[in-house]
Amino acid sequence: MIYAKRYLSLPPYLFADLERKAAEMKQRGVDVIHLGIGDPDLPPPAFFTEALHRHLDDSDAHLYPTSQGDPEVRRTIARWFQGRFGVELDPDREICVLIGAKEGLANFARLVVNPDDVVACPDPAYPVYAQAGAILNEGLRQTLMLDPERGFLPDLTQAEGVRLLFLNYPNNPTGATAPESFFRDLAAFADSHPGTVVAHDAAYSEMTFGDYRAPSLLQYTRRAVEFHSLSKLFNATGYRIGFLAGNPELVLPFTALKAQLDSGAPVFIQRAMADGLARYQGADPPPEVRANLAQYERRRALVEEKLAEIGWEVTRSQATFYVWARVSGEEMETVNRAALEKGVIMTPGRGFGLGGKGYVRLALSQPYERLEEAMERLRTL
Ligand SMILES: Cc1ncc(COP(=O)(O)O)c(C=O)c1O
Repeated sequence: MIYAKRYLSLPPYLFADLERKAAEMKQRGVDVIHLGIGDPDLPPPAFFTEALHRHLDDSDAHLYPTSQGDPEVRRTIARWFQGRFGVELDPDREICVLIGAKEGLANFARLVVNPDDVVACPDPAYPVYAQAGAILNEGLRQTLMLDPERGFLPDLTQAEGVRLLFLNYPNNPTGATAPESFFRDLAAFADSHPGTVVAHDAAYSEMTFGDYRAPSLLQYTRRAVEFHSLSKLFNATGYRIGFLAGNPELVLPFTALKAQLDSGAPVFIQRAMADGLARYQGADPPPEVRANLAQYERRRALVEEKLAEIGWEVTRSQATFYVWARVSGEEMETVNRAALEKGVIMTPGRGFGLGGKGYVRLALSQPYERLEEAMERLRTL
């Protein structure tokens, strides 16, 4: 078969490989503790599942949705954005519902990237920016290294002249959060570089701990776009729902582009998202979500502490459900030995780019007791 060069240029999708390895091990009877993928083990809050059931009975639930999303859902998103970030959005021009942030990120790049345009991608990073953003559009990838010495923040001077700039805070895989000063710098960059499209991936904005609250880039500039996801907020990765917000010069054409590609997220799922967002009290999530976050926070404290005891250099974090740790020696060797000898699956840092060399990522997506067990196994590695 002859395949397109852009397809052949793609490296394998990291998580598909991990899933295959885990399934093989389980089949061999290994008691696998899978810390490789950010897929929540906790169920969605009851209010979300109930809303899904309820909206399935809506008279239009079976019909094609609109590409931009249900108008009432967009109005609810706008109210949520106002309460959560203090930013007023026009639901008809500045919001588009997504079939998950991944769909949005991948399709958005098609709107603005021509062959040989430069796409700036952080490294390490969620692989979609480089692969669906740059490679699939025959763009050129410019790497923005996220060094621990700089708090995993990029040097924006390296993004001069690029067509599209992806950034992501709270960050996967490092767990890093960006201070307000960085958001201001990024906003100034967006405002002073009209030829560069700034796309902020805020998929983890709601997964934060202690008194840390992640801001939105749209608080500082309206020239950018921001991707939001319900996947982690409502433990709802499988329902595929999120939204894009920001500059109408980008959001509206993106909606037109999407009309050519897909028919939008099922309307009952959109409405369940909206009902869930409507439960926020201003910037505060509903109690069920707070209880979820408390579990993740407890897990994070355990894993950070135990890995530090083993002697791994742990990045302490107030956000995301990933722990990013530098191991002694080659991370691929550690990852392989942990899987083969101990049945503990972690993601090698290099899977997120060369900047991940020497690191591993552990997703806190297992019950506390299983994480205790995983830490014990790693201690004896
Ligand atoms: C940084 C980042 N952005 C986007 C996504 C995808 O989110 P969604 O499930 O809404 O497609 C993920 C999923 O893990 C992610 O880590």
